[in-house]
Amino acid sequence: MLSQDEIKMKLGQYAAGLVPPNSIMGMGTGSTVFWLIQELAVRCRQGLLIKIVPTSSKTKNLAAEAGLQTIELNDADSLQLTIDGTDEIDEQFQLIKGGGGALLLEKMVAAASEKLIIIADDTKMVSCLGDFPLPVEVIPYGWKQVKKKIIQMGCKKVELRQNGDRPFITDNGHYILDCKMDKIKNATALNTELHLIPGVVETGLFIDMAQTVIIGYADGRIEEKEQPG
Ligand code: 5RP
Repeated sequence: MLSQDEIKMKLGQYAAGLVPPNSIMGMGTGSTVFWLIQELAVRCRQGLLIKIVPTSSKTKNLAAEAGLQTIELNDADSLQLTIDGTDEIDEQFQLIKGGGGALLLEKMVAAASEKLIIIADDTKMVSCLGDFPLPVEVIPYGWKQVKKKIIQMGCKKVELRQNGDRPFITDNGHYILDCKMDKIKNATALNTELHLIPGVVETGLFIDMAQTVIIGYADGRIEEKEQPG
């Protein structure tokens, strides 16, 4: 049986094979994407030519250390694909992301791409979103008022994400509220409701964005699934 990290490594290696030569691709953030970067670095040393639009300073640094060429989203005319991890995925390919705090740029880069491919170990698959606390990126000014409104919406528990004894600050200078919901029955409605709160910048709900999901299992199997319907 493979460890979680070994599954992530296999997923990264598999997903690297889906990156077409001469493409501009969005690169997600997280420990699964780490392995994708390592495998792409090997392939680039062997002659693969690609440009990467990173979704966080962490990914940008990792890619640069691995010798991959990175460019800004504004300098990319078109992105053929983005590959990213996830915190939860349901049967309709709706996602909760943002465990690594990069949800804003992850969503912007994915939205700019022709295709979003998600790589995830099978523990991320759920029948209903909501066990993982939903990350909501907010403006630091007045964040307590935003928290109050989210609680009024029926959220059980809202926690300001911490980095040691200080608030965690995103690459864009915002805070993150981790919101423990009941099961999320209607992700679209929840996303809209959250966006209507002044001070909310983005939510970790990625709705109808992923076309392909690649799931890795502890027995070494890799399963590639296309969006249902
Ligand atoms: C970062 C994310 C990550 O994709 C998500 O947290 C999964 O990370 P990992 O691959 O480390 O399990 O959304 O904001």
